[in-house]
Amino acid sequence: MSNKMWGGRFSSGPDAIMEEINASIGFDHRLFKQDIAGSIAHANMLAQTGILTQDDTDSIISGLQSVLAEIDAGTFTFSRALEDIHMNVESRLREQIGDAAGRLHTARSRNDQVATDFKLYVRDAIDTLIAQINTLQLGLVSRAEDEAETIMPGFTHLQSAQPVTFGHHLLAYVEMLGRDASRLSDARKRLNECPLGAAALAGTSFPIDRHMTANALGFDRPAANSLDAVSDRDFILEALSAASICAVHLSRFAEELVIWSSAQFGFVRLSDKYSTGSSIMPQKRNPDAAELVRAKIGRILGALTSLIVVMKGLPLAYSKDMQEDKEIAFDALDSLSLSLAAMTGMVGDLKVNRDRMHAAASAGFSTATDIADWLVREVNMPFRDAHHVTGQIVALAEQKNCGLEGLTIEDFKQVDQRIDSRIHKILSVESSVASRQSYGGTAPANVLTQAARWKSVLTGQ
Ligand code: ARG
Repeated sequence: MSNKMWGGRFSSGPDAIMEEINASIGFDHRLFKQDIAGSIAHANMLAQTGILTQDDTDSIISGLQSVLAEIDAGTFTFSRALEDIHMNVESRLREQIGDAAGRLHTARSRNDQVATDFKLYVRDAIDTLIAQINTLQLGLVSRAEDEAETIMPGFTHLQSAQPVTFGHHLLAYVEMLGRDASRLSDARKRLNECPLGAAALAGTSFPIDRHMTANALGFDRPAANSLDAVSDRDFILEALSAASICAVHLSRFAEELVIWSSAQFGFVRLSDKYSTGSSIMPQKRNPDAAELVRAKIGRILGALTSLIVVMKGLPLAYSKDMQEDKEIAFDALDSLSLSLAAMTGMVGDLKVNRDRMHAAASAGFSTATDIADWLVREVNMPFRDAHHVTGQIVALAEQKNCGLEGLTIEDFKQVDQRIDSRIHKILSVESSVASRQSYGGTAPANVLTQAARWKSVLTGQ
């Protein structure tokens, strides 16, 4: 049998393989709330503009509400023969209210309908992600306050570079996540134009009011060009690219948790709730959640890459290629949401081994830069010379098999006569981090100031 929705000119139904490749209901059933909200807004507008009678509109709207209740209750049967969410809903509406259901699709097409539904979905997803990012940020800020004075090695090239505070390190992620939230909220602003009423591609001859539907659905305005309205998938590309950057940040942090929780580092311990054991090695505590967060970027960036390639070279306006947008986008947005939740859980439960961090921070001549800075400040040496002299001091310590703090004043004088005993004050990791008070530097005092700033930004107080 040919399709009831569009099969007037067809004498046979689709091949089974055609049905399989064509149907999207297997994934776009997720859009049911948005689809029904869009239909209700459209129906109300059709009544207000006199295109539909109020009676028909009333029965359409109460029918849609009962379809919504059925889907919510899990009693709705989705049919693959009906292709997608739009036709599943409309077909059930017809079963419930009869012929008036057929009037709902006046002045609309599935092309503007799907673009509207998907925008509404992505808008909600963005709102959820931003809230989840803020929650993770708050978790990091509160840990940063506790760890404002905790000293750890700062790395470049994964080699110990200079001591930093752990709180400062955590706040670095708060900054990154702040940019992520701001990118998502920018994407939301550009997204918020309503495609509904663009119809198939050219607009419609009916006297519709697109401002009314845009307004009812919480959009800022109707999209100004009907061809663009049905062809545009920028909104999901933008959301996926912001999601990818956020997932990169989570992946970097996850990698640090994996490294830090290893026996060799021992800086942190992930809680039992976020670790797994090995079925053969009883001693193991594996950081699986962190590893999976580290990996999710693969799927999320994969979705962006897939969709950008799907869109490349598509002529205006709608092509069925665009149906490929949803499945991967749902997966990517879900993956980011789950990663944020897992990261928030791990950060909240994390046990910090301050002694291990301190010992690691003190190893490897990590305060050598402080000596060079002292020579510049106290002896008025040009920095390049001070760097050279400090290199000789490090070599001497290495030769004597001690740390910089183990060198005597005679040792220092042997390298440069101008050094005096005041140098001993600047050799500890504590004095090193405390001295880094330049704006944005790692000093504990700065960490507390920045943590307080973020707290007030995030809580609006
Ligand atoms: N299921 C389709 C999609 O997701 C809806 C739009 C179909 N439009 C059409 N003219 N076939 O893109």
